[in-house]
Amino acid sequence: MKNNSVANKFSAVILAAGEGIRMFSETPKVLHTVGGVPIIERVLEAVRNAGVRRICVVLGHGKSSIQKFIKSNSLFSRVTIVYQHKQRGSAHAFSQAKKFVSRKDTPHCLVLCGDTPLIQASTLHNLMELHIQQNAAATILSAHCEDPFGYGRIVRDRTGSVTSIIEEKDASRQEKKINEINSGMYCFRTADTTAAVAKIQPNNAKKEYYLTDAVRLIREEGGYITAYGTDDFNQIMGINDRVQLAQAENALRCSIIYNLMRSGVTITDPGNTYVEPTVKIGNDTILLPGVILQGSTAIGRSCVIGPYSYLKDAVIEDDVTVNSSYVFGSRIRKKTTIGPYARVRPGCTIGPEAKIGNFVEVKASRIEQGVKAGHLAYLGDAHISRKVNIGAGTIICNYDGVRKYKTEIGEEAFIGSNASLVAPVRIGKKALIAAGSTITDNVAPNKLAIARCRQVVKNRKKR
Ligand code: UD1
Ligand code: CA
Repeated sequence: MKNNSVANKFSAVILAAGEGIRMFSETPKVLHTVGGVPIIERVLEAVRNAGVRRICVVLGHGKSSIQKFIKSNSLFSRVTIVYQHKQRGSAHAFSQAKKFVSRKDTPHCLVLCGDTPLIQASTLHNLMELHIQQNAAATILSAHCEDPFGYGRIVRDRTGSVTSIIEEKDASRQEKKINEINSGMYCFRTADTTAAVAKIQPNNAKKEYYLTDAVRLIREEGGYITAYGTDDFNQIMGINDRVQLAQAENALRCSIIYNLMRSGVTITDPGNTYVEPTVKIGNDTILLPGVILQGSTAIGRSCVIGPYSYLKDAVIEDDVTVNSSYVFGSRIRKKTTIGPYARVRPGCTIGPEAKIGNFVEVKASRIEQGVKAGHLAYLGDAHISRKVNIGAGTIICNYDGVRKYKTEIGEEAFIGSNASLVAPVRIGKKALIAAGSTITDNVAPNKLAIARCRQVVKNRKKR
């Protein structure tokens, strides 16, 4: 986090009271996620990382769930919340934070919308720096874009000085052609702005109090207005509907995928690979098409993560192959192979050099070096020691409908195909379980256990 003299002059206000009507959602707009993280968390994090310490969020529509989210997130424990009870526009929202921003030790304020998920701390920092350097009364974060539809346009006079911002709905045909747009993020000299905001009237198509009008009013009082242009449109993209939500998701996805490729990860189908920003991947690992990697997943070097695999909070060590499988909340140790079509549920450590094959489900189990479970098995709440062989169709019966029980299998034991191990149960070292057995009692080391009816062969009736 940057912590310097520029950011210390600022308080920050994040406007997030709007209804987000174009989302048509029960969930408040700012709690929709981009890259797995709620939009408002992304904005808050950028502000914090830009070095601003005093942060206020204006809530209104959907306030209880947003407030609950902010309070449950320790990153934001010192964020102040104020309320806008009726949504009368962005200026009206800002004025709810008047008391918060009017402190002498922070004579400037950074204002943002809660709906711009891809804004970066460095951009906010540059914006604040320019504002202070130029001794501006207001500095607008702006961008040029080919299709400015829907955004407020930056109006300049003949000399090129910014005079006002005009909203799409209020713009003349000529003004609609302006392709320099307002990001909805600004630095303001607080005193000038609170004075201007007090004068704003809802004389516009939406009959709202527009914060953008503060720009014109500050200028009328002789304040200097400037704009800081970013050439990265993605950073200022506001999310108003689900098309824009998908566009932001895709922009973030592409930037992550390209960074991974540039740092030594092979991605065979970049358009069809989904990696959250929190994920780490080592060099020479290959991601095949359709891979989804989420949460705290960390993958080592020279792994192959196979087509359509889904990994969440998984730790994958070097030289592992995961093929068309799910791995959630588990550690896969070196040189292990998983899949195709395996499901590793949370709480497992598997390997090194183990093999979990097709249609094998594993849950909360420690599966040690060289274990092989090649086909069609359920292994739950088990400790399976080195070099055990689990035959096809082995089921660990860990649940009696009320409680879960543990199973312990000693080194080099051999579990024949289609055995049921009824937990709690211990199978000793090098024990052999005959195929088709239902094992309800412990088996001592080196013993053979057979628990099934003996085969009977009879003569067939003559037909
Ligand atoms: C706003 C800007 C526009 C800019 C665009 C960038 C205004 C008038 N217009 O338009 O110039 O190009 O952002 O994305 O500000 N809000 C409240 N209370 C309200 C109304 C809005 O808190 O009563 C908050 C919203 O939650 C949102 C922000 O203010 O975070 C902007 O409101 P929104 O309706 O999204 O404005 P835009 O039409 O996108
Ligand atoms: Ca918006």
